[in-house]
Amino acid sequence: MKKVVLAYSGGLDTSCIIKWLQDRDYDVIAFMADIGQNEDFDVIKKRALKTGASKVHVVDLKEEFIRDYVFPAIKAGAVYENKYYLATALSRPLIAKHQVRIAHLEKATAIAHGCTGKGNDQVRFEVTARLLNPRLEIIAPVRVWEFKTREEEIEYAQENKIPVDVTKKSPYSVDINLYGRSIECGVLEDPWIEPPEEIYKLTVSPQKAPNKPTYVEVEFAKGVPVKISGKTLKPLALIEQLNKLGGKNGIGRVDVVENRLVGIKSREIYENPAATLIHAARQELEALVLDRETSHYKNPVSQKYAELIYYGLWETPMKKQLDAYFNKTQDRVSGTVRLKLYKGNCTVVGRKSKYSRYKEELATYGKKDIFDQKLAEGFIKLWGLPF
Ligand code: ARG
Repeated sequence: MKKVVLAYSGGLDTSCIIKWLQDRDYDVIAFMADIGQNEDFDVIKKRALKTGASKVHVVDLKEEFIRDYVFPAIKAGAVYENKYYLATALSRPLIAKHQVRIAHLEKATAIAHGCTGKGNDQVRFEVTARLLNPRLEIIAPVRVWEFKTREEEIEYAQENKIPVDVTKKSPYSVDINLYGRSIECGVLEDPWIEPPEEIYKLTVSPQKAPNKPTYVEVEFAKGVPVKISGKTLKPLALIEQLNKLGGKNGIGRVDVVENRLVGIKSREIYENPAATLIHAARQELEALVLDRETSHYKNPVSQKYAELIYYGLWETPMKKQLDAYFNKTQDRVSGTVRLKLYKGNCTVVGRKSKYSRYKEELATYGKKDIFDQKLAEGFIKLWGLPF
């Protein structure tokens, strides 16, 4: 029997896939990545075995996710189409990497996933997996199987006694991990309709947020956050705490129509409190310590990097080259930023760094001024000379 490692979530799709693959003579090994989605993995593991998986691997990838995927994206200032902090997109190459690792471990010849043929995630999983091992067969049942609707799938599940979690019945498609939450489908498919309050889980409505602002200081070392209000925290704990702080203050809701890689425009809602705070703070710190040319040059490169992540090109040479570039730019992005969190807004109200290029003696209009204004005349003449 051929062995296949399935990226299993415990939901309806991947549960049906176990049976579907078995019907095609595969020995199915389920693989679950824990990236902070707060599921009861014991329950899901039992469900996979009951459905027919011969074995289940649950792998805790939380630390690795933040350290090796989220932090590089933070250093790069990567935000897709200026709004999406890429929580889902960043998790895919990590899951694919471990799926391939488990395939090797189990001597499987194939891997499978539950993505549809319309999304970005199929691309991210498959491009990554093929870059790591081009010989693995890749199976994407949802793209080819016979079910047209969710109802048909549920029927198939019932006929085949596949245990599915009925309490999970929701009109929305949700992807969640430590770094953020993505919500689509249902009424959200109409971009004119305001998202109903019920879709949000990580953030309170700004209207219900506290009437007093919360101040928080985030300290960075070489472009990544290391302390919150003076306290050193491990990456994982740090992200969790910023998610809580931001969420409590109604920060991190994003409503977008975005351009998918397959050409479709889709409407998606994101909740990413920690990402919102971190990106806002780091950007301001950069403004303080980077020279003008570096600062301006970096922006389009950040956009490019965000595209690479979004397009599933994490394991490519270019992504690694840009990592080297961004690491270099972050050499001096160390210091502290004070944020004011208030009813959905995150405002930077203070910044300091031992590498600051801000010189009060040059900027001031007061007594301390050392800037020689007479030099400006010659500078301006030469500046305009070429034209
Ligand atoms: N549009 C986002 C991306 O491509 C999120 C995809 C998953 N969203 C979801 N609601 N299941 O990265």
